[in-house]
Amino acid sequence: MATVRFDNVWKRYAGDVVAVKDLTLEIQDQEFLVLVGPSGCGKTTTLRMIAGLEDVSEGQVRIGDRVVNDLPPKDRDIAMVFQSYALYPHMSVRDNLAFGLKLRKVPKQDIERRVQEAARMTELGNLLDRKPKQLSGGQRQRVALGRAIVREPAVFLMDEPLSNLDAKLRVQTRAEIARLHQRLKTTIVYVTHDQVEAMTMGDRIAVMDRGLLQQVGTPQDLYERPVNRFVAGFIGSPSMNFVTVTANRDNGQVKLTGPGVELPLPDRLAPAVQELGGDGSMTAGFRPEHIEIGDAPSGAASLRATTDVVEFLGNQELLHLRIGGDQDLVAIVEADRRVRSGDVLDMFVPMDKLHLFAGEEEKSLTATTAATATTTA
Ligand SMILES: Nc1ncnc2c1ncn2[C@@H]1O[C@H](COP(=O)(O)OP(=O)(O)OP(=O)(O)O)[C@@H](O)[C@H]1O
Ligand SMILES: [Mg+2]
Repeated sequence: MATVRFDNVWKRYAGDVVAVKDLTLEIQDQEFLVLVGPSGCGKTTTLRMIAGLEDVSEGQVRIGDRVVNDLPPKDRDIAMVFQSYALYPHMSVRDNLAFGLKLRKVPKQDIERRVQEAARMTELGNLLDRKPKQLSGGQRQRVALGRAIVREPAVFLMDEPLSNLDAKLRVQTRAEIARLHQRLKTTIVYVTHDQVEAMTMGDRIAVMDRGLLQQVGTPQDLYERPVNRFVAGFIGSPSMNFVTVTANRDNGQVKLTGPGVELPLPDRLAPAVQELGGDGSMTAGFRPEHIEIGDAPSGAASLRATTDVVEFLGNQELLHLRIGGDQDLVAIVEADRRVRSGDVLDMFVPMDKLHLFAGEEEKSLTATTAATATTTA
C-alpha cells in the first residue's frame, strides 16, 4: 500500500530533450491513476522514473513517505507490466509466474501459494502447464499481469499493456484489469495514449502534453470541465468541435459570433472576456453529443449548418456538418431525426454545455474554479 508523489520533477535526456517538465502530482494509496497523452508527451519516462529505470534530473519522487530518487529499482516495492510482455518461451506458465520469486529466494511454499493466488486472479489456473506459444495473445497478457501480481508490490506500473491485443480482447482485458484492481486494492499507475481506455479505467486521469501535466481529475471532471483546449480536444470521442468567435456589441448586449454561430455572452464570463484584449477573438467549443436540432432557446448558442454526410449508427446518427462556408462540425443526434445529406438545419447548444478558450495557452474561461483546483491537487 503506497502513495506515489512527484515534487517539481524534471527529466532531461542528453541532447537537450526535456521529456518531463516540472511535474507535481500525487497518486493516492489504492488509486487507479491513468497517465494519458499523445505519443512522445513523457508518459513512459514518468513511469520509468517511478520504477527507478530512469534517473530524475531535478525534483523528488516519493513512494510512501520515502524519497526514492537514489533507491535502486529492486528496493522500490513496485512491479511493472510492459507492452511487450516478454515471457520466457521455454518455461511453462507456472515457471514464468514463479521465476522472479525464485530469483529472490522466496521460500518454496510461499511461491506455490502466490502462484496459485495470481493464477486464480488472472484465471490461468488450468493453463499453468502450457508454454507461452500455446496461449492466445490475451492469455499471454494475463501471464504478464500474473507475474506482476505474484510480486505483491505496493505499486503496479503498467505501460500500454493492452496495445498488442485486438479491439475485442482489449475491451475484455480492460475490464479484467479494472476488476483486478478492485481485488488487489493496490496503487496502479497505468499509461496509455488511448483516451477511451483512460476514461473507462481511471479513478483519476492525468493528461500530459509535450512534457507538461495539463490537468488531473476524475473522468467526469475532464469531460465536463477541461481546463484548456488541449484537454477538451483530447478527451471525448468524437472530439469536441471548435469554432473561432469574436465579441461584438449588439443593442447593448455582448454577443459572440463566428461563422454560422452566434451566442450571447453569459454574464459570469463578461469580466474574463473584457480582460482579453487583442482582437477579442476566442474559441468556442462544444461536444458532438451536445448539439441539438431546433431553434435555439434564449441564452443558447445557435448554429445554422448544412449536412454533408450522415453516418447511421443504429440508435443515433453521426452528422458531418458544415457551417459558415468551410468550417466542419460533427454532431450526434437521435436516429429518428432522419437527417439527409444536403439538409440545412437550425441547431443549438445549451449554454451549460459550451466552453470558451482564450489566450496564448487557450485556457478555459468556462471551467469552474473547482475544476482548476484539481490541477494542482
Ligand atoms: N533515452 C532517451 N534519450 C533521449 N530522448 C528520449 C529518450 N527516451 C525518450 N526520449 C524522448 O523523451 C520524450 C518523451 O518520451 P516518452 O517515451 O516518455 O513518451 P511517451 O509519452 O511514452 O510516448 P509513446 O506514447 O510514444 O510511448 C520523447 O520526445 C522522446 O523522444
Ligand atoms: Mg511510451
